[in-house]
Amino acid sequence: MTPAVAFLETGVIYCDDNLHRLTGFPADCIDLIYLDPPFFSNRYYEVIWGDEAEIRSFEDRWEGGVHVYVGWMRERVMEMRRILKPTGSIYLHCDWHAVHYLKQMMDEVFGDNHFQNEVIWYYRGGGVSPRRWGRRHDTILFYTKGKKWTFNVDPVRDEYSEDVKRSPASRYDKSYRGKKVYEGYRPHPGGKHPDDVWPIQPIMPSAKERLGYPTQKPERLLDRIILASSNEGDVVLDPFAGCGTTLVVAQRQKREWIGIDISPTAVGLMKRRMEKVGARTIKLVGMPVTEAQLRELKPFEFQNWVVQRVHGTHSTKKSGDMGIDGFSFFDHFPIQVKQSDGIGRNVVDNFETAVERSKKPRGTIYGFSFTKGAYEEAARAKAAKGIEIELIEVSKLLGDYADLVTPERRLLVADAPLPEPRPPEARPTVEELVKSDGEPARTSE
Ligand SMILES: C[S@@+](CC[C@H](N)C(=O)[O-])C[C@H]1O[C@@H](n2cnc3c(N)ncnc32)[C@H](O)[C@@H]1O
Repeated sequence: MTPAVAFLETGVIYCDDNLHRLTGFPADCIDLIYLDPPFFSNRYYEVIWGDEAEIRSFEDRWEGGVHVYVGWMRERVMEMRRILKPTGSIYLHCDWHAVHYLKQMMDEVFGDNHFQNEVIWYYRGGGVSPRRWGRRHDTILFYTKGKKWTFNVDPVRDEYSEDVKRSPASRYDKSYRGKKVYEGYRPHPGGKHPDDVWPIQPIMPSAKERLGYPTQKPERLLDRIILASSNEGDVVLDPFAGCGTTLVVAQRQKREWIGIDISPTAVGLMKRRMEKVGARTIKLVGMPVTEAQLRELKPFEFQNWVVQRVHGTHSTKKSGDMGIDGFSFFDHFPIQVKQSDGIGRNVVDNFETAVERSKKPRGTIYGFSFTKGAYEEAARAKAAKGIEIELIEVSKLLGDYADLVTPERRLLVADAPLPEPRPPEARPTVEELVKSDGEPARTSE
């Protein structure tokens, strides 16, 4: 019998809950995972979306408290451990709210003997309060799955400080009983050994790489992680990919990549960003393909989905106030998006006023269905004022995503079949996971 073969598809962005996707990955197939999950901060962020100063609220809250959050993370991290190669590495990005709980959870899942570093990303900006020190860092926990792992020091060496460069003391080795003991004082020609505090600018409002996605991380941060902890051709996974910073850097550094994000908005942004950096084969999996799925989207996801699907642009806050949600590609005609059925005459009437005020001859309303009155009102606007109001059912925008490219990037990962996604009750416990590859999860050191 020919053995079954499992492939891992790379160049893919999944739009889904990562837990669901991760359970379907073969074991031992990923070289590097970076994850930047939503933080446990119990608040809503008001964020600026895009260049046009539109305010969106971004939820970062957790019902049920930090233990529910950590449990939610643990389930996912256990799957990540399973799919990492024995030589793989994982970097978990945390802010101060839950880092101490997450560290303990990571020690349990990976074994505290596999903890390597607590990297401090030190940035400018952040909140200042007259009552405490400025909060100016995030923590990135670095673990490996096993005892051997990739770590390339040379591409991530730092510059020596001017003092060190000038100091004559840095040019001699001290010796004790004939043995060199202070070799570290001699500057390495390639630069200083990189340490665990990384002063890297956050994405400034004027930065070229800024997309307006809340929580976007700087490419320089991911450059360091990817260069040090993977080699060309390795597979890098970001299961909370956001607007795709990890994938962009992986592509540039000639790594294979896979991204997962639950938000269709994020996935749409990522696809465009990956195209810009020259990724030739990008496959999107799990984007809404039925009307029922569109009905389940959160209102702003639905709006973004429509605007992205027609290659439009989002409205500014000001034009949004007039009932305009976006503008069409090229002509910039107003767009309104309604996640509802039976859209009636009054909606068309109000939108007609908005189109008229924007001094455009034409606009489009997207919705699930329209009443007879809506069509009549549109015809009246055309006859009376020459304003064309197009009424389009969103089902017409569903399709086979024909603009997507079929991937050719499949890597042979194991001579075993791909598992079916497992239901929660069939997932292994930490103990079972650990037993399965013979590594102790915790040591008593
Ligand atoms: C902090 S952001 C990541 C930002 C990213 N590092 C970047 O540079 O753009 C967290 C992301 O996780 C996604 N997310 C939240 N829950 C998820 C889940 N269960 N599965 C997959 N993605 C999820 C959110 O949609 C959000 O885009």
